[in-house]
Amino acid sequence: MRGRIREEKSMSIRSFMMAKFYDASMRAMEEAGLASWRSELLSCTHGNVLEIGSGTGANLQYYPDSLESLVVTEPDPHMLTILRENIANHSGNIRAERFNANDLQFLDDSFDTVVSTLVLCSVDSPEDTLNEIRRVLKPGGQLVFIEHVIAKETPKLIKWQKFFQPFWIYMCGNCHLTRDTEILISNAGFCFSKIDKLRSSGGPPIVSPTIKGIAINTTDQTCESGT
Ligand SMILES: C[S@@+](CC[C@H](N)C(=O)[O-])C[C@H]1O[C@@H](n2cnc3c(N)ncnc32)[C@H](O)[C@@H]1O
Repeated sequence: MRGRIREEKSMSIRSFMMAKFYDASMRAMEEAGLASWRSELLSCTHGNVLEIGSGTGANLQYYPDSLESLVVTEPDPHMLTILRENIANHSGNIRAERFNANDLQFLDDSFDTVVSTLVLCSVDSPEDTLNEIRRVLKPGGQLVFIEHVIAKETPKLIKWQKFFQPFWIYMCGNCHLTRDTEILISNAGFCFSKIDKLRSSGGPPIVSPTIKGIAINTTDQTCESGT
């Protein structure tokens, strides 16, 4: 019992610290290109939009004014507090909810676009999260994503990702370094309409391999482009 209380306390301190220092820790990566990736990709969002794991709201400034609505969701209470403060500086129909991406409290087929940036690395089960995203997306709706992934093309870097992963999971809010998120998205029944495989700069090499793109919520299980 005491052990559990101590673990919960330690988790809460880590989540407080992560929320407090998240923007500062990401600044070099944002300036080195991540911000322009966000801007380019989020210009493709439309209709009713749901963002999962919004963190402090790094994406807010990049959404088009033309959206019908924007719901940003975040399970961590410390992140959510900062997110709500940041929403106050933005106009438009924006709402914040404390939801876990594995249990989104929305009806089926509610959204035209779901946005996930640097989140599928951190959820407990990316398979469950992707199924939940498909459930709330309309048929033909789009998942817009930027995710750091396993270094498939660089086996030497995979070794370092595996080495640092336990520490990274503990210190960085359950962030996994070796997820093959491209395959996970595809296996969940999405078809890529666009996917870029990139290296981010400004951060540690273990988080550098990144995929960025748009995946469509198909209903017929076949992808025309073969991706
Ligand atoms: C690396 S941060 C990314 C924040 C933001 N999306 C961005 O692009 O800067 C990962 C975020 O995922 C959130 N997260 C972790 N597990 C989650 C879950 N099960 N459902 C939704 N969000 C989750 C964390 O609380 C954190 O805000």
